[in-house]
Amino acid sequence: MQELDQIFNKLWQQYTNESPEALKIYNLFKARGEEDIVNDHVAFRTFDDPRVNVDKLGAFFEALGYHACGEYEFKVKKLFAKHYEHKSDPTMPKVFISQLKTKEFSPFLQEHAQACVDKITEAKLASPDLLYSGIHWELDYEVYQKLLAESEYAAWMYVFGFRANHFTVFINYLKTFNSVEEVNQFLKDNQLTLNVAGGEIKGTPVELLEQSSTMANKVPVKFKQGTFDVLNSYYEFARRYPDQSGNLYQGFIAASADKIFESTNVGLR
Ligand code: NI
Repeated sequence: MQELDQIFNKLWQQYTNESPEALKIYNLFKARGEEDIVNDHVAFRTFDDPRVNVDKLGAFFEALGYHACGEYEFKVKKLFAKHYEHKSDPTMPKVFISQLKTKEFSPFLQEHAQACVDKITEAKLASPDLLYSGIHWELDYEVYQKLLAESEYAAWMYVFGFRANHFTVFINYLKTFNSVEEVNQFLKDNQLTLNVAGGEIKGTPVELLEQSSTMANKVPVKFKQGTFDVLNSYYEFARRYPDQSGNLYQGFIAASADKIFESTNVGLR
């Protein structure tokens, strides 16, 4: 478990360094005195290139005790995703990995996605360090803007590369909150902006999963033309309900995840 803990620690350090608002929210929960934050899931984005696709990133987790569970299609955003669960420890975060189906986009996007992956060394591709290795290429603001016009997801991947896209607070394990509504109110009381695409709460108790998220914040990013502000990451909150067998449902709802993806949408901010 040590190697796995190390990977999640590195991912958390990187996530909170690059998304200071997530650390602020984490500390707001901790400041209540009774909360130990358990992560419901950690989400990754990638391209469908076999060198870095869902199966490739998922294999790093499979080697450390995880197994692949649900599969998800996002037709409009042109994404495919899988989630992975730890085989023996239910308090280990689930891992949600999505990939952009690049072949359904322009030759420009396909060429740039491939050129990005071409820059990653063989050694890095073979190591779980890849998961938090960031970008391996020089950033061009014109390329970013062209990618953004086609796919928010592609533009995010181009700028931030390999890292956790977001962590997710597992509301069931919180001691001082009993609902997503209470968590959302707490966030709003602390001047945080929620993603309202599809409503503040995505999913219902009947679907066995309710989720909410903050909107991504802008951070300065260095491009070859200079420094520009780019939307980076959000923090997510999930409450799960027991299924007919009495176990907490562990899957994901594609329609809800579809709206959560929009937490990094430029137009919604
Ligand atoms: Ni998520």
